[in-house]
Amino acid sequence: MNFKVLKSKIDFTAEVFGIDARQNISHEQKIQLTKLINEYAVIILKNQKINDDEQIKFSENFGFIEPAGTNTELTKITDRRLSLKMNDVSNLDKNNKPLTKSNQNRIFALGNRLWHTDASFKKIPVTFSILSGRKVSSKGGETEFCDMRCGYKALSNKMKNKVESLIGEHSLQYSRGKLGFIMKDVLTNKELKKFKPVLQPLVRKNYVTDRKSLYLSAHLGLIKDWELADSILFINDLMEICTRPDYIYSHKWEENDLVIWDNTQVMHRGRYFNDQKEIRDVRRTTIAGTEMLIDQ
Ligand code: OGA
Ligand code: MN
Repeated sequence: MNFKVLKSKIDFTAEVFGIDARQNISHEQKIQLTKLINEYAVIILKNQKINDDEQIKFSENFGFIEPAGTNTELTKITDRRLSLKMNDVSNLDKNNKPLTKSNQNRIFALGNRLWHTDASFKKIPVTFSILSGRKVSSKGGETEFCDMRCGYKALSNKMKNKVESLIGEHSLQYSRGKLGFIMKDVLTNKELKKFKPVLQPLVRKNYVTDRKSLYLSAHLGLIKDWELADSILFINDLMEICTRPDYIYSHKWEENDLVIWDNTQVMHRGRYFNDQKEIRDVRRTTIAGTEMLIDQ
């Protein structure tokens, strides 16, 4: 296994060669790959023509799979296109047809176009995401990544101290609310309970590299004990810093790309494509975290 760092303003993306995700990988390869993900945070493997079972098996090298939450999604189990171990990030319904404009699942999925880290709304947040491009759009549909370690580093010492003392509240209610999907208007109280905010620190430290990073997401909507308006302004400022053009890598998909990222260090977002005309079938497996970061 070897790798090449993809040149951008900052080096946080590496293309890895010599891994076939359909095959068992050796213990040594697993250690190397895990180290690379922690160091770089975005890893690209090209030409990985895998099926769901192969993707699941490959992903399990990095830990347990976080099941796609029927708990935290609106899609009914019977409407799902894929198994619960797979996150359907496509624009398709269970008959493999593009979701129509006003379909609720489509609107919900459009939340992926906001800068976010995956599943930061879980008490034990996830670590790595593994996204497989089974069918990609001919135009648009890039996935962008930004390095939140650079965001942290860019802060003044005073600001670093301040953010380290703060706690963020994360919920799908906040991210979806940003797109006008106001859950409390459409869900019952019982349904709403599933989307109760969880607490996360605003700064995390990577256990392999010891590097600190901001920990933001579209799901972050409130700073604990702050007014909502103050929270929104403060979070917007931090978001702006993390998403400076120099801190971004944009991935232009080719079929069978397998992209792995570390949600504890980078945010990502999908970009526009014509989802009514084109099919974009990308499927994600997500690795469960092992610890709650704040008692709650
Ligand atoms: C995801 C995601 C963005 C995209 O898979 O978690 O947000 O470009 N994807 O599809
Ligand atoms: Mn995502």
